[in-house]
Amino acid sequence: MKDVAGKVAFITGAASGMGLGMARAFSAAGMKVMLGDIEKTALDKAVAELKAQGRDVAGVVTDVTKRDSVFAAAQATIDAFGKVHVVVNNAGIGASGRAETTSEKNWRWTIDVNLWGVVWGLQAFMPLIESHGEGGHVVNTASMAGMYAWGELSAYNASKYAVVAISETAMAEHINDNIGVSVLCPGVVNTNLGTSARNRPAEYGGATDSRSEQMVEMLKKGLNPDVVGEQVLEAIRANQPYIFTDPGLRKYVQARFDRILKGYDWADQCQALKKADQQTDITL
Ligand SMILES: NC(=O)c1ccc[n+]([C@@H]2O[C@H](COP(=O)([O-])OP(=O)(O)OC[C@H]3O[C@@H](n4cnc5c(N)ncnc54)[C@H](O)[C@@H]3O)[C@@H](O)[C@H]2O)c1
Repeated sequence: MKDVAGKVAFITGAASGMGLGMARAFSAAGMKVMLGDIEKTALDKAVAELKAQGRDVAGVVTDVTKRDSVFAAAQATIDAFGKVHVVVNNAGIGASGRAETTSEKNWRWTIDVNLWGVVWGLQAFMPLIESHGEGGHVVNTASMAGMYAWGELSAYNASKYAVVAISETAMAEHINDNIGVSVLCPGVVNTNLGTSARNRPAEYGGATDSRSEQMVEMLKKGLNPDVVGEQVLEAIRANQPYIFTDPGLRKYVQARFDRILKGYDWADQCQALKKADQQTDITL
């Protein structure tokens, strides 16, 4: 989508961090932006900041874990701006731990926000983007944790691998139309992700100021989220499918695929397969 001025975007998790960075970049480029977030105070502040700069923006409190809330946000976007061209499914939370020690509530919270939030965003917004025929773009925020499985982050990694899979599926589905699809895989970005539990709903254990000091300290050294906002805008204009914020992390993707391909080297000389008659050209 080369021409973004006057187009309408909806961004989840837009009251903080990268979502706010995107709202700043998109609105500065002349887009109309609906900011969605679960944290009303921060959302009101973000909308006020942008309005004070003359940007054409509005806000809607949205809980991406709830289908009705995301569909209501879609309706609010249409009511405010008439149509929608870009959806950024960006809201996310970070909870750490091993698969076997992460509590059921934290597992469900992570999957409900990071994975279901993307699903509801696509279900609510994709038909609206398709309906006007003017084209558009979808950005799903995954993570480098969707490209490489870091230790002690099992639920988070699982949720982000799923976001990469959903995004790659949508890329294949929209290869021949005027709707672009990108997956954002940030490295370390200086946001409030380390205090995600500030917004944890009651059903997942409630809000708490507990934090991973290690993560908070690491994020402080990360990239400015406004740079990511600019980068995502550039990617939408260039129809760039994979958005990596830290080229230095390329080696992890390389190492993962090298390890995976070694599995094929082993399969080539595996005794059980030598006996099998297998069709290898499968068209999916
Ligand atoms: N910061 C990093 O280093 C990093 C790295 C890789 C990926 N990410 C991903 O980037 C995305 C944005 O996070 P961030 O780093 O800007 O963190 P952030 O905490 O600054 O912003 C996330 C926003 O999502 C909102 N949110 C949380 N739960 C929500 C819900 N149920 N419904 C709607 N909004 C909700 C929060 O209120 C917050 O405003 C997330 O998907 C995160 O997983 C972050």
